[in-house]
Amino acid sequence: MSKIESILTETRVFEPSAETLASVAITQNKLDEMYTAAAKDNVGFWSDLAREKLSWSKPFTVGLDDSNAPHYKWFTDGELNVSYNCIDRHLDTKSDKLAIIFEGDQGDIERYTYKELHDHVCRFANTLTAQGITKGDRVIIYMPMIPQAVIAMQACARIGAIHSIVFGGFSAEALKDRIEDAGAKLVITTNGSRRGGKTIPLKGAVDEALSKGCDSIKKVIVYRRTDDEVMMKEGRDIDWFEAEAGMSDYHDPVMVESEHPLFLLYTSGSTGKPKGVQHSTGGYLLNAHVTNEWMFDLNDSDVFWCTADVGWITGHTYVAYGPLSVGATMLMFEGVPTYPDAGRFWQVCQDHGVTVFYTAPTAIRALMKFGGDLPNKYDLSKLRILGTVGEPINPEAWMWYYEVIGGSRCPIIDTWWQTETGAHMIAPFPITSLKPGSCTKALPGIDAAILDEDGNELGPGDGGLLIIKQPWPSMIRTIWNDDQRYKDTYFPLEGNNYYVVGDSAHKDKDGYFWILGRIDDVLNVSGHRLGTMEIESALVSHPLVAEAAIVGRPHDIKGEAVSAFVVLNVDTPEGAEREALILELRNWVAKEIGPIAKPDEIRFGTNLPKTRSGKIMRRLLKTIAKGEEVTQDTSTLEDPSILDQFKNQK
Ligand code: WT7
Repeated sequence: MSKIESILTETRVFEPSAETLASVAITQNKLDEMYTAAAKDNVGFWSDLAREKLSWSKPFTVGLDDSNAPHYKWFTDGELNVSYNCIDRHLDTKSDKLAIIFEGDQGDIERYTYKELHDHVCRFANTLTAQGITKGDRVIIYMPMIPQAVIAMQACARIGAIHSIVFGGFSAEALKDRIEDAGAKLVITTNGSRRGGKTIPLKGAVDEALSKGCDSIKKVIVYRRTDDEVMMKEGRDIDWFEAEAGMSDYHDPVMVESEHPLFLLYTSGSTGKPKGVQHSTGGYLLNAHVTNEWMFDLNDSDVFWCTADVGWITGHTYVAYGPLSVGATMLMFEGVPTYPDAGRFWQVCQDHGVTVFYTAPTAIRALMKFGGDLPNKYDLSKLRILGTVGEPINPEAWMWYYEVIGGSRCPIIDTWWQTETGAHMIAPFPITSLKPGSCTKALPGIDAAILDEDGNELGPGDGGLLIIKQPWPSMIRTIWNDDQRYKDTYFPLEGNNYYVVGDSAHKDKDGYFWILGRIDDVLNVSGHRLGTMEIESALVSHPLVAEAAIVGRPHDIKGEAVSAFVVLNVDTPEGAEREALILELRNWVAKEIGPIAKPDEIRFGTNLPKTRSGKIMRRLLKTIAKGEEVTQDTSTLEDPSILDQFKNQK
């Protein structure tokens, strides 16, 4: 992989409108100044921002401590509280301003001013304290997209507890793994959620996970979101409202050191178990704060809607923390884009006067399929900035988003970043000239480059490893319980401490970055990053399955579809029995990991294509999954005839 070829050639350039140029806070002059300041003194640049943008109970004197690289500490001797920064500091000027607008699946609406949010968060912080949770304890949040999820996160931050959100679509098994790795004391959940007109149970998965282990869990707090009755275990499970009864709506935030962990968020790697990405307090909040200002230009008249679930990093940085830190109004939505019809997103934008909208290419592609008539039915004239995240956006979807949703007036902010980076890294400002499919330039203070496999920096157009040369405040601090893996995964290069992203990319002659994809085999299904390893091990845990390999195949709507290659430890059944087994295995994966990981197709063989050293050759499986002819060299295969078995079925 010394160089990677880029197949996409895009020559269109879109300039910002006069209106955008005249209205945004960061002008070209201001941006130039920031780049100059960061180039001169990177640590000084971030330190000045940290003093200007965040409220510290104890000011810091040390900007960056890199004495233990690649472990970095930012604003080391400073102290602050994230919930204070997101809520309390706005109360003098914005107590009646809306912090959260919520629209439920059924169109039910809740609104919270900053003062009301403050009172809810304080009551729940007092509740957690009353349940014995203190600074440093881990709390699992397993909830749908409702304001109480943000209240729970903010309450944890307020008392210095470390939260770890487990996406509500994950199964009991996945929940159990994360609870046990985090050593959590308490779970916050709901009886269920409402999505697409249905009620979906949630508490049952908690019960199942706890019945199989999770001995560290002492209490479960259950918020009632639906009318469904759930089992409440005596002495362990407590109703949210009963637990809150009598709690004061005043709570003195616990000030913590800048490096105190704010949260863990588990993310799939290509191999092995999920990684508990550990984020800090001060550094994380700084990048969350400034990127909400820089990329989305949030000001007092905006209504910001990020459609991401709180179970993903986007739902942390651009729902639960960043928008509140800058004092904006943000919208949360419980439902799905296609219920009651595929105009729902546009209806919500119209009804609540959304001005800045942030979603994923997979959602754009899914809605694009329904054409322009649905969005044209709604008044989208308040929109002024559109964002995307999660995977490269194909130029066709970019153009549809730009023209049909944005009326050719809103910049498309294509934000490249990762769970591990905490916040946007490579992205345009609203005033940047745009090229469809490029996330444009690295932000001020972010030192990104492209290297070949020998560590040489590559020139324009040459694809290679995307790396970040210098540390930045919101970077991952370590992998919980596995510091060696932190070093091995992100800093694998000899002789330097460059952060290796794991994506391949190239930079064009104008310094614009084009992301080519993951270097390893992580799948991106509907914007969800799934490790092949997790799906493979779920399949192998079925009594009839001996071995399994998972690869992604391009899919118009989901981005990637999940293709499974399975070796059974019995003869492959035929006809109806075969179909029944395929169904059973798909459901098995759904139960073990979650419905999003369900294989789209399953093929059977007597073995997998392996090298003599036993390594599965996923490249060959990818070719077969795509339905293409295998033209690669197969001479290193142990048994090349295996490929024919897989080719002849679908
Ligand atoms: C990976 C990170 C960042 C929050 C959502 C995903 C891919 C992300 C873009 C983009 C091209 C992108 C990369 C990255 N990715 N945004 N704008 N253009 N690729 O977080 O699950 O940690 O995944 O998503 O491959 O490494 P994540």
